[in-house]
Amino acid sequence: MPMLPKLESLIAATVVTSMMAGTVYAQSADTTPADGSSPIRQVGETPSEDLVRAWDIDISPDGENLPEGSGSVSEGREIFANNCAACHGADGTGGDGMIGGRLVGGEGTLDTDKPVKTVNSYWPYATTLFDYIHRAMPFTAPQSLSDEEVYAVTAYVLNLGGIVPEDAVMDRTSLPRVEMPNRDSFEQMDTLTLADTTACMEDCSPLIEEEGTKGSRGKEVPTGQ
Ligand code: HEC
Repeated sequence: MPMLPKLESLIAATVVTSMMAGTVYAQSADTTPADGSSPIRQVGETPSEDLVRAWDIDISPDGENLPEGSGSVSEGREIFANNCAACHGADGTGGDGMIGGRLVGGEGTLDTDKPVKTVNSYWPYATTLFDYIHRAMPFTAPQSLSDEEVYAVTAYVLNLGGIVPEDAVMDRTSLPRVEMPNRDSFEQMDTLTLADTTACMEDCSPLIEEEGTKGSRGKEVPTGQ
């Protein structure tokens, strides 16, 4: 994904330099490059196909958009040791001072006072686990792993929790078939029934006007938000 870091770092650099110099965008635009183009590139321009492809990495629960390639538990073991264990522990159980925390275990704790949310106890789909690792991990170098490496390390994390066997190989066909332990605790909600888009015109619940809040119907809103 060469375009993504480029665009991000360019925007970040622009923001940081204007903040450091105490300038505003309008002034920073004065530093027009020699070729006359805007210094804030790619804002307001039609994105190239490469750029769209770099952003279009979301994987659906049903596995739509999973890339080609495959990876095995045994391949994932080494990738995990080199790229993940420092923050999640060698066996994925986290540990003192490890910022990534636990990835396995915790089943049956979600409705207790101390829920332990992990891949085993919480995640409903293995496909979105691939998505998450692919886009966000390793924490300090997201998107640095190849698709094959992500398949392999996903297989390894699933095996650490006993969800797939030692000889499992993950690819765009096998991954969506993995049955996650907590799958049945999630319900598909109809978003239309969640969003009340009708404006209240009469007999509405009273506005809450307490100290430290802004007026809001039925829910407190902290000042400043
Ligand atoms: C530098 C530390 C670090 C490294 C290295 C790292 N992670 Fe993480 N990981 C984190 C942190 C921090 C979070 C929590 C992020 C958040 O909640 O926004 C996290 C969260 C996760 C989660 C989500 C856990 C959950 O249940 O919410 C998974 C899965 C994961 N990491 C897998 C991996 C894998 C696989 C690797 C190696 C390819 C890896 N991580 C490498 C720090 C790290």
